[in-house]
Amino acid sequence: MDLKQRINSDKLPCHVAIIMDGNGRWAKQQGKERVFGHEGGVESVRDTVKAAAEIGIQHLTLFAFSTENWCRPHKEVNTLMGLLTKAIDSETLELHKNNVRLQAIGDIDALPSSCRKQLSEAIELTSGNTGLTVNIALSYSSRWEITNATRKIARKVAEKRLDPEDIDQELVDQAMETARIPDPDLLIRTSGELRISNFLLWQLAYTELYFTPVLWPDFRKKHFFQAIVDYQRRERRFGKVECHADDVKQA
Ligand code: IPE
Ligand code: IPE
Ligand code: MG
Repeated sequence: MDLKQRINSDKLPCHVAIIMDGNGRWAKQQGKERVFGHEGGVESVRDTVKAAAEIGIQHLTLFAFSTENWCRPHKEVNTLMGLLTKAIDSETLELHKNNVRLQAIGDIDALPSSCRKQLSEAIELTSGNTGLTVNIALSYSSRWEITNATRKIARKVAEKRLDPEDIDQELVDQAMETARIPDPDLLIRTSGELRISNFLLWQLAYTELYFTPVLWPDFRKKHFFQAIVDYQRRERRFGKVECHADDVKQA
């Protein structure tokens, strides 16, 4: 049976997040400059978005550029921003045709103006779509997000619009960039690194983690489906005890 047929449509993760890593190493393996890997990664994004839409995933969050990535060499950062702007421009109509909604999280104001413009046009055009939501994380880091959320909440308290006693998990959650997006059920990280790298630290509390050695530019639909099949074999407990058939009978 092929991988896609092994996916149980009743047990799909609602939200899949991906740390798209390994572009530089992929380029190096071929004796090319790092930016060649970033170019290669665009096709992987296209294939992954198609795969997610095809099986009915509702939210897909893609870590494309971190706050820390600004500290890379200027040439790499500039090329990445250029590529990003170009990719949003060339992919938007196709996304729109496929009923995909584009959203972004992160410090969008830090992006070059051409990129910001392209992004806001794409978000606006696709805002009414009802299929897959692709949430792209740009100039994003979790500690940046949590710090911002803390500032927003503190401001409300200082202005006497919020009583500190009323601060609960729901309120903190809604102060995050991901307000209104459910927490990821599954996180995929490519390239064999076993770390989170400042991504969605608050939201990943009970997320299933899936690490694959595949470098991002080699990542295709079949790898995405493999991760979903693996996810569906797991038992999620959320700190509770596993539910036995016997317990159900006695209850
Ligand atoms: C991921 O690939 C893309 C970004 C972080 C922007 P890398 O550029 O980190 O590639 P490696 O990890 O060095 O191979
Ligand atoms: C994480 O990858 C960020 C993105 C994929 C955008 P990095 O390559 O920046 O992370 P580290 O440096 O390996 O932790
Ligand atoms: Mg990397």
